[in-house]
Amino acid sequence: MNFRTGLSGISRRAFVASGAGLAASSLTASLPAFGQGVGPHRVIIDTDPGVDDAFALLLAMRSPELKIEGITPVAGNVPLELTLPNALRMVEIAGRTDIPVAVGAKAPLQRRLVTATYAHGENGLGGAVFPEPKLRPIADPASVFIRQIVRKYPGQVTLITLGPQTNLAIALESDPDLARMIKGVTMMGGSLSGGNVTPAAEFNVYVDPEASRIVFQSGIPVTMVGLDVTRKTALTDAHVKRLEDAGTAVSLAAAKIARNDIDLNRKEGNATGPNMHDSLALASFLEPSLLTWRPYYVDVETSGELTAGETLGYRPSESGLRGSAPTLAGTKTSVMLRDKFVPNANVAIDVNSAKFFDLLIGRLASKG
Ligand code: BDR
Ligand code: CA
Repeated sequence: MNFRTGLSGISRRAFVASGAGLAASSLTASLPAFGQGVGPHRVIIDTDPGVDDAFALLLAMRSPELKIEGITPVAGNVPLELTLPNALRMVEIAGRTDIPVAVGAKAPLQRRLVTATYAHGENGLGGAVFPEPKLRPIADPASVFIRQIVRKYPGQVTLITLGPQTNLAIALESDPDLARMIKGVTMMGGSLSGGNVTPAAEFNVYVDPEASRIVFQSGIPVTMVGLDVTRKTALTDAHVKRLEDAGTAVSLAAAKIARNDIDLNRKEGNATGPNMHDSLALASFLEPSLLTWRPYYVDVETSGELTAGETLGYRPSESGLRGSAPTLAGTKTSVMLRDKFVPNANVAIDVNSAKFFDLLIGRLASKG
């Protein structure tokens, strides 16, 4: 589904609510929402660096199609005290200190922070050490910054979220008109095929499921790049060697992070290198044809004892969308939540991994 087309004269919410989206989405189901047409495209990158976040940031800053309006680090893989300087370091390494970096949320909306140092090392960069950044963040916090930029360029800004979606959720909650001004959200997060933190939940959505629910229910067209595809993007020694051979500041920094993280993974007993989850989400925006897409109605489980953070995808071929069976004590009936298919997300279901790595390593290693 291409959420950007076919909507003239009718608001996106009204279009979706009317059910007209069903026919349109069936016709154009293979097209993701963004990253197409003449650039540069205005984006804000929301991120929790993070090994694969660092790669995604470097890729973004080596991509002329993007007009990066800002970077908004959030707590996730490691606490904010580390994701913030890590983001600033990547900006300095890429020589892009023109890009504003705005401080994001320290904790999820309603939960205690869970980090992923087992995968990203204690410092978030696989243990690779870089100098303290000299660059400072801007004064405005991330949620305020997001609002300002979206309001400055209504309908033009895509949020690329690579971590828990806390910053965006805060912005949406504080400004009810904001959602309809956001062009789209391209997210690394979720899964329709099981999780990587629990059997049900992918890390980013697991950390802040309430935030992701706000995003999915906001009416903003969502492009979901989840574990279904990002599991197919393990970095190899050969990729790292290409980065080392290129010998640029960016390629050497990426290689250093990768080498450290591959070593860390080996110590943890993983034979393969880290998955490039976030770089794939970024690349999907640059080159949607790397992936195969299907429209889904996606919702986030927030109350399940075992399943909080699960993303559930509903397809048109299935029968009406029903809530859980009523309990004896409860007052609710077995509710039919939706009787029509109303997609809210384009979900990546397959990826050409070889082409993705050509793009990723090619751009990180390029000398231009
Ligand atoms: C996601 O979780 C983080 O650990 C990665 O950076 C990625 O954004 C994968 O589940
Ligand atoms: Ca991330």
